[in-house]
This record gives sequence, C-alpha cells and structure tokens, in this order.
Amino acid sequence: MAKLLVGNWKMNGLKAALYEAGLIAAAAKAAQSQSVQLAICPPATLLASLSEATIGTGLLTGAQDCHEKVSGAHTGDISATMVKDAGAHFVIVGHSERRADHHETSAVVCLKAQAALAAGLVPIVCVGETRAEREAGQAEAVVLAQVDGSVPETFPEGGLVIAYEPVWAIGTGLVPSTGDVLAMHGAIHQRLVARFGPLGASVPLLYGGSVNGTNAADLLHLDHVDGALVGGASLKADGFLKILHAIQE
Ligand code: PGA
Repeated sequence: MAKLLVGNWKMNGLKAALYEAGLIAAAAKAAQSQSVQLAICPPATLLASLSEATIGTGLLTGAQDCHEKVSGAHTGDISATMVKDAGAHFVIVGHSERRADHHETSAVVCLKAQAALAAGLVPIVCVGETRAEREAGQAEAVVLAQVDGSVPETFPEGGLVIAYEPVWAIGTGLVPSTGDVLAMHGAIHQRLVARFGPLGASVPLLYGGSVNGTNAADLLHLDHVDGALVGGASLKADGFLKILHAIQE
C-alpha cells in the first residue's frame, strides 16, 4: 500500500501560502512513483484555487470538515458536495479540534463521513484519546469506541481513511512511544477486520500528532501505519518534504 502523507493546514494560510503548496506539488509526482501519495488540506478559502493549481501534479487536496447535509439553511457551513465541486479528493471529519470546539460526537462524525462518501470524497476519520483518558488506562477503549461510532456501515475499498491522533500529541511536540502507536494501530486494524472483514483490513491508518522530519521514519515504518496526518510541519514545503524524504529512505 502506498504511504499517504496528508498536510492539515488548520486555520492557517492566506493566498500567499499557495506558493508553499506549489513547491510541494512539484515534488508530488516524483513521490507518487516512489509510492507515497501527498495531499494538502488547506483552509476552505484556498481549497478551490489550490485544487485548480495542482491538477495533474499528483498532489491531492482535501477539506478540513464538511456539513452532513447536501445544502440548506446552515450559515457558515460547507457541504461535502461543495467540497467535491471545489476539486477536493479528501475531507477530514471528526478532527479532535472540531470534536472539542464544535461538540461533534461520533454520531455526527459518522453522518459527515456518509455525506463525504455520497459526494464521492474520501473521508479521513479522526480518532484519538485525551491525556486524561490515556493516564486512566482508557486510551484503547476510547479510540475503539470512536472508530465504532464514527465509521459508517458501508464504504468502498480505498474509499475511507482513519487517522489516529492522540489529542495530547497534537501541536505539543509530544509523540507516543512507537510501542504505543503500534499497539493502537494494531487494535484499530483488528476492530475493522472484525466488523468489515477484508474491507476493514484494507483501510489505511494514518498516525497524527507532532509528526516531523525527525520522527517520521520511525513512526511510518511501523506495522499498520500507512501514513501521517501532519499539522504544523506541513505549513512550509521544507518541513513537509523533510517528512517525505525521511519515509522514502
Ligand atoms: P500537529 O497536528 O502535526 O501540528 O501535531 C496534527 C493534526 O492535528 O492533524
């Protein structure tokens, strides 16, 4: 399976940031031939222009969220159909920052993932425990419950991605031990196999949380770690491409 490296720009990036994406796009074609797929999820304001600028480069784009409905009276929201229309391939759903800031439950995240699938997008479903939950020994139970509740009943092969992102590792420079990542990815994999059989086994599992050029190789060579969701280190082409080069070595 090709490794998938997805940059999540969060609420960062003005039009000038398209320059950084251009540098990443230039590296994307060569990366594909070395079986790494690159993608950037810019803020919604840049999604259409970035998608247009990167056609044919091998760099895919994604949104950071979508509404569960196709259209209607939801001021400020963006539907999966709109995200698709803007040229995106992916949409992140259920990022812990949205679960926390917008009170999104796994049930809501599941509806968003279904909307994404219906629109022809690949949802990247995020799950992850808080520090308190890990310290209480509940990390695996919390994450597996999120997987159960957030992943829809049906999806096509290759049509859904899961990102395991411990909340306490996001933007903090803290990273779980490789043993802990291995154990969690193994547990998620087993849970998906139990529920979906071979289809579950084929779901790419990304790790996210303070991934950078220094720790990427160790994390991405673990079993059932099929790529990374990268925040801070994806904002500059230099940082993002360091991760690419680290996993290609
Ligand atoms: P980080 O963010 O790489 O800055 O920790 C990851 C994410 O939230 O997707």
